[in-house]
Amino acid sequence: MSAVLQPEVAAERKAFYAKLDKLSSAPLWEVLHDLITPTPNTPCKPHLWKWDQMWPYLQEAGRLITAKEAERRVLVLENPGLRGRSAITHSLYAGLQLILPGEIAPAHRHSQSALRFILYGSGAYTAVDGEKVTMNVGDFVITPSWTFHDHGNASKEPMVWLDGLDVQIVELLDAQFMEKGSREAQHTDRTGSDNLALFGNTMKPVQYRAQSRTSPLFWYPYERTREALSQMKDGHEMHPCWGHKLQYTNPVTGDWAMPTIGTFMQLLPAGFRGKSYRSTDSTVYAVVEGKGRCLVNGETLAFGPKDVFVCPSWMSYRLEADDEAVLFSFSDRPVQQALDLWREAF
Ligand SMILES: [Fe+2]
Repeated sequence: MSAVLQPEVAAERKAFYAKLDKLSSAPLWEVLHDLITPTPNTPCKPHLWKWDQMWPYLQEAGRLITAKEAERRVLVLENPGLRGRSAITHSLYAGLQLILPGEIAPAHRHSQSALRFILYGSGAYTAVDGEKVTMNVGDFVITPSWTFHDHGNASKEPMVWLDGLDVQIVELLDAQFMEKGSREAQHTDRTGSDNLALFGNTMKPVQYRAQSRTSPLFWYPYERTREALSQMKDGHEMHPCWGHKLQYTNPVTGDWAMPTIGTFMQLLPAGFRGKSYRSTDSTVYAVVEGKGRCLVNGETLAFGPKDVFVCPSWMSYRLEADDEAVLFSFSDRPVQQALDLWREAF
């Protein structure tokens, strides 16, 4: 409401709003233009978290608190436009989790779905509903909704991964549930190689019937993803905006690997200068290999290996690479597409 009002009309309206307020009601016309905007009006800001700055603080956290005491020793990556909400975008949570040699992050389960993307170290494991996978840099691991999971580090090195969860989506829907496991580490009788053998070869056990929308393949080793991208680079034309890009899929349905979080891996050839792109899904990027830049909203986010950066909804951005770069990314695209909300523009 921007029109200049006669003082007596303004006073009358103010008194009317005060009466409404007592009935937990309010006039729509005072807020309509902030509610229904011509284009996305996200509080999410572009931001870059440099590994070199985060790593000393992760090590300090390792000295201050054990994984057992913390339950999960994680430094949350809070978007500067969303401080205090444990959110990296308006709809998603992300954090850097440290697990030291010999530690166990105890078993629990929750309705939030989680992804792990390994940034540093190798040899720690994640166990999901009795199946155990050993993780290495660049691996993408899924913890589906309501599955028991614990993490442990049997190696001699600290290990760090990026956690991505649909915390804010589940919170919006008031559908949060959480339960601690009866044992610190669950009994495991199957390994990641079983999981890969059963679901990672464009085949599935003949009797398999899906119990959820989440991929039954929960470990996507980097070795395979990297090989696929290299082949793609050699044999296919690249996209002017995103280079060579693959989407992780549920091998049984061909749909997204997770129902609420879309996950991708892309290769930018050396010297790549991407064209401008925007989409309605605010996107979190984690750098696996190479150095380059994301140019967004007048800012230059200069990235290198293990850095994390975020591009907000509907803000045009361009990607550039100096040497060959490989970027993992995730967003709420499956949710937006399921609801017919997703848009992109070149
Ligand atoms: Fe968890």
